[in-house]
Amino acid sequence: MSKLNIVILAAGKGTRMHSNLPKVLHVVGAKPILAHVIDGAKTLNPNKIIVVYGFGGEIVKQAFTDENIIWVKQAEQLGTGHAVQQAVPFLDSGANTLILLGDVPLVDAEACSRLVAQAINKLAILSFNKTDPTGYGRILRGAAGNVSAIVEHKDATDAQRKIIEVNTGIMAMPNDYLTKWLSQLTKKNAQAEYYLTDIVALAVKDNISVVAEVTADEWSVTGINSKLDLALIERVHQNRIAEKLLQQGVTLKDPARLDIRGTLTCGREVEIDVNCVFEGNVTLGDNVKIAANCVIKNAGIASGTKIATFTHIDDAEIGENSHIGPFARLRPGTILAADTHIGNFVELKNAQVDIGSKINHLSYIGDSTVGKNVNIGAGTITCNYDGANKFRTVIEDGAFIGSDTQLVAPVTIGKNATIAAGSTITRNAPADQLTLCRAKEQKSVAGWQRPVKIKK
Ligand code: UD1
Ligand code: CA
Repeated sequence: MSKLNIVILAAGKGTRMHSNLPKVLHVVGAKPILAHVIDGAKTLNPNKIIVVYGFGGEIVKQAFTDENIIWVKQAEQLGTGHAVQQAVPFLDSGANTLILLGDVPLVDAEACSRLVAQAINKLAILSFNKTDPTGYGRILRGAAGNVSAIVEHKDATDAQRKIIEVNTGIMAMPNDYLTKWLSQLTKKNAQAEYYLTDIVALAVKDNISVVAEVTADEWSVTGINSKLDLALIERVHQNRIAEKLLQQGVTLKDPARLDIRGTLTCGREVEIDVNCVFEGNVTLGDNVKIAANCVIKNAGIASGTKIATFTHIDDAEIGENSHIGPFARLRPGTILAADTHIGNFVELKNAQVDIGSKINHLSYIGDSTVGKNVNIGAGTITCNYDGANKFRTVIEDGAFIGSDTQLVAPVTIGKNATIAAGSTITRNAPADQLTLCRAKEQKSVAGWQRPVKIKK
């Protein structure tokens, strides 16, 4: 197969987004629109990807510094033909070019691949039948069904406007023809623009055949022009991910109420209840159950673990058969071994908790190492921060921390130690002993009056 160049048109302003962010940087599934197009393009193994940029170009470029892309500036937006003309100096002679649009994120790489395969000595365009074709370029076909031209909506006659087969803007052709045709474009049309679509008539004039493949998947050729388009495409993208998960055997209580903003990998018998958001890379092992309203980002959750409602997990690893939540917050650096229990209103940060330990209620455990089979009572706080520095708390195997305890780090609680409820622990507690640090005695004041409000 001959070499492939891909030109992505992304110089449009996107005025209708009413946003300061360049249109192609708005996200679908947390990934910029243009990144979807670039990723789709890469699956076709092109030897070059050229992006024609304009408005907000520098910010756009910065978002793709890791990609091997040739950036070409179109300083003035004089039309799609003019945009492709900017890429001509980079096109390889003898190669083919595929033209993609930078604002069409759900691009169908397989359809593009078929288009490229057809473009050997031909101009191949991707079209679709649109119920309301207003605004689109119409595909004109001769009596034999051969494509003869594309006429833009603004230039079309009433009869031509009745045609529902429209140009998607995606096309492929040999570079040597493309270069020649581009040099012949004029601005003699309703918009005084250089229309890329005029190359169809030029091909016909040169006796080069033009083929149009009609796609049935309208979303794969839908461009984003407004926040409404963005929201609709986001849902389609989400539905497609949900469908794939269902096909793999994941139970989704409602596929319409699931958001995957990254990659979710699931084992067998996984169940996900409604309104869960997965971000970054999340892996769920076999038999993992996620209850409603959880947000889970960059996490690995091992098999058999149950995450109860309203749990927030960010950058954490959770071992097998654990119970997390409801209302738990696992912050970056949390590593839980198997059979751990983290209950309601418990926040963990940079804490490593070993097998069988429980932190069931109202606690903050940060910068801590917690051993095996430790029980941390309600309202335990690790005081890890003195306002400037952070210190570690170490709680060894089998320790029991009574409720409402403050552990002022750096501090170590020895193996099988017991800390009495209500203690403020500032020094290491020895193994196997009870350590307590409370007010000396409990006393009662007879006849004591509660303060009353002073009336003004
Ligand atoms: C274009 C096609 C039309 C097709 C429609 C599909 C032409 C003349 N018309 O219409 O047949 O039905 O797309 O959506 O090609 N762009 C630039 N530089 C420019 C102008 C546009 O980079 O000077 C880029 C835009 O960023 C966008 C794409 O080209 O990604 C299409 O431009 P847009 O203005 O949306 O398309 P139309 O001209 O309306
Ligand atoms: Ca236009």
